[in-house]
Amino acid sequence: MSCHKFFILFIFFKFSTSSYYCPPANVLNGICYHIFNDYYSRGWFDAEAFCANDGGQLGNIKDAFINNFVAKIANNGFTYADYWIGGLVDIDKATNRTVWKWIDYNSFNYTNWDSSYSNKSYVGQCLTQNLYTGKWSTSGCDEQKNFVCEYANTSQLCPNWDSMYFITHVTAFGNKCYGISSGVYNWSSALSNCQKFNGSLVSIHSYNEDKLISRLTSGYTFIGLMDPTNNGNNTENFIWSDSRPMDYSNWCLASNSINGSCVLYDSDEGCWYSRSCHEYSTYVCEYYL
Ligand SMILES: *[C@@H]1O[C@H](CO)[C@@H](O)[C@H](O)[C@H]1NC(C)=O
Ligand SMILES: *[C@@H]1O[C@H](CO)[C@@H](O)[C@H](O)[C@H]1NC(C)=O
Ligand SMILES: *[C@@H]1O[C@H](CO)[C@@H](O)[C@H](O)[C@H]1NC(C)=O
Ligand SMILES: *[C@@H]1O[C@H](CO)[C@@H](O)[C@H](O)[C@H]1NC(C)=O
Ligand SMILES: *[C@@H]1O[C@H](CO)[C@@H](O)[C@H](O)[C@H]1NC(C)=O
Ligand SMILES: *[C@@H]1O[C@H](CO)[C@@H](O)[C@H](O)[C@H]1NC(C)=O
Ligand SMILES: *[C@@H]1O[C@H](CO)[C@@H](O)[C@H](O)[C@H]1NC(C)=O
Ligand SMILES: *[C@@H]1O[C@H](CO)[C@@H](O)[C@H](O)[C@H]1NC(C)=O
Repeated sequence: MSCHKFFILFIFFKFSTSSYYCPPANVLNGICYHIFNDYYSRGWFDAEAFCANDGGQLGNIKDAFINNFVAKIANNGFTYADYWIGGLVDIDKATNRTVWKWIDYNSFNYTNWDSSYSNKSYVGQCLTQNLYTGKWSTSGCDEQKNFVCEYANTSQLCPNWDSMYFITHVTAFGNKCYGISSGVYNWSSALSNCQKFNGSLVSIHSYNEDKLISRLTSGYTFIGLMDPTNNGNNTENFIWSDSRPMDYSNWCLASNSINGSCVLYDSDEGCWYSRSCHEYSTYVCEYYL
């Protein structure tokens, strides 16, 4: 990629964070679709974190019109034929069956599968679109690909976390927003900082949500899990600070992973450690829309 192109993208970001500026030709119904090609190529969750960092999300394609619009933009800017869009396989909690979902969790009514689509409907598969045909297929979510971000007004529904505590990274995944602090606090101060925005420390309820948190954070980051008995040595005692059910867990396998009553996400290993509540760390807030 030439320096010239990089410079153009830099200008785009400067505008887009303050006013969602976007080339008018890329806007449909108030949503701007932007293509990130070769230089930016990455796995699906990293691509979503990249879009979220700028107040967007991976492109959600709800009808044929949007589908063709996005494919056309891609056709003008891409080198590779397929690229990530915002769909992935999730588990439907009510039926315990796999379902395709958009990152904003709106219904997956419209589909445009390629005729050669082999229906890999298992968790760990993410959605791609082909720029020549506009048709969809799937790939393992960790594959490196080009991607499409959409910048709409979703993140404007999220609390204005940036205004205090220097919290960056705001996005919506399903029906919730996430904010990642840059300052470090102990667990109880972190919780009360999140609550000032009528939010809470994050609770995690699925493999996909866990994976997204691992890509949004770096190093060790407090999440909303804690042991109210204060023994901090038995996973059975831990509960979420937002009172939601303990329906998913991802403890690290290390022998010393449970050693304290407050829980940190280790983004390098992609799993959870319990440690002393007196420790200072960055943290993840959540806010349900
Ligand atoms: C986003 O907000 C602007 C101004 O508030 C509005 O004109 C536009 O229709 C909104 N777009 C969407 C997709 O809701
Ligand atoms: C959901 O299905 C998987 C396998 O398909 C099974 O291992 C698991 O126990 C099921 N969970 C529930 C809550 O039924
Ligand atoms: C999608 O389908 C569901 C039922 O299958 C329906 O209730 C819903 O209104 C549909 N949504 C759209 C946007 O068509
Ligand atoms: C994929 O397979 C699942 C399970 O067999 C089925 O429920 C679903 O309808 C299939 N989806 C498509 C798009 O073929
Ligand atoms: C939190 O909720 C209260 C009561 O509904 C409201 O007065 C306050 O403005 C909200 N605070 C934020 C930051 O949204
Ligand atoms: C956990 O801690 C409690 C109190 O600190 C202690 O009574 C209990 O024996 C410990 N359990 C284990 C398995 O270490
Ligand atoms: C548990 O943490 C305490 C400090 O809080 C430390 O002294 C101890 O060595 C740790 N235990 C293990 C097994 O790592
Ligand atoms: C957390 O920090 C606050 C503010 O500094 C302090 O009042 C509180 O005692 C600390 N709590 C723990 C468990 O360290």
